[in-house]
Amino acid sequence: MNKLLVANWKLNPEKLSEAVKLAEAIDKKCVVICPPFPFLAAVGKVLKYAKLGAQDIFWEEKGPFTGEVSPAMLKDLGVKYVIIGHSERRRWLGETDEMIGKKVAAVLRAGLKVILCVGEPVSVRKKGGALTAERFVREQLVRDLKFVKRLKSKTKDIIVAYEPVWAIGTGHYDTPKDMLAMTSVIKRVLPVGVLYGGSVDSKNVGNFIKYREVDGALVGGASLKVEEFKKIINISAEYA
Ligand code: PGA
Repeated sequence: MNKLLVANWKLNPEKLSEAVKLAEAIDKKCVVICPPFPFLAAVGKVLKYAKLGAQDIFWEEKGPFTGEVSPAMLKDLGVKYVIIGHSERRRWLGETDEMIGKKVAAVLRAGLKVILCVGEPVSVRKKGGALTAERFVREQLVRDLKFVKRLKSKTKDIIVAYEPVWAIGTGHYDTPKDMLAMTSVIKRVLPVGVLYGGSVDSKNVGNFIKYREVDGALVGGASLKVEEFKKIINISAEYA
């Protein structure tokens, strides 16, 4: 099966024109491009092969929720995937598992696919090692899925991105061994596609996606560099 590469642009780039140029350059099948909200419509218009993704969503459909964006609004723009529960939102916006759980359920209710991010902070791994980290991720995943009705029938619309918090944007990435152990922990909770994320670049992506159990990668910083991301796309194609 083709591996999925999710380009999480986060709070980048600064200008709409840059976003459109970047999207055109990495517009390939099996890529999901997740620009900031203000660029979604314009990026969606230029994509021929890649799918459009959003970085967040609100769980209500409409009403007095200043600053929020509903699943239906995104769907109307052509969004197919929504990232939920990214550790940066958990950290900087105070998103709790309760909020994340409601968002996951709302994305699925709208008929969109969810990319649910889970991962342990460095303190957990340092203190308790691999087994404690695995328990942390298993429990986090269960909490984040708790509002999904008929969960077992939704597996094809759920992708879990395992992103150890200490690996995001740091240049320190997981070992394939630990990542595979975590992949199987996740797949035991729910048989879904699992992506690896955390300092993925063209040099290390093959270490992760070469495994049958790993369904792709969630790429932050490297997805903003055209040549680097193209290399990642080419490497990923070798493992299709
Ligand atoms: P990074 O980010 O590739 O820059 O580490 C990954 C992510 O946060 O999704």
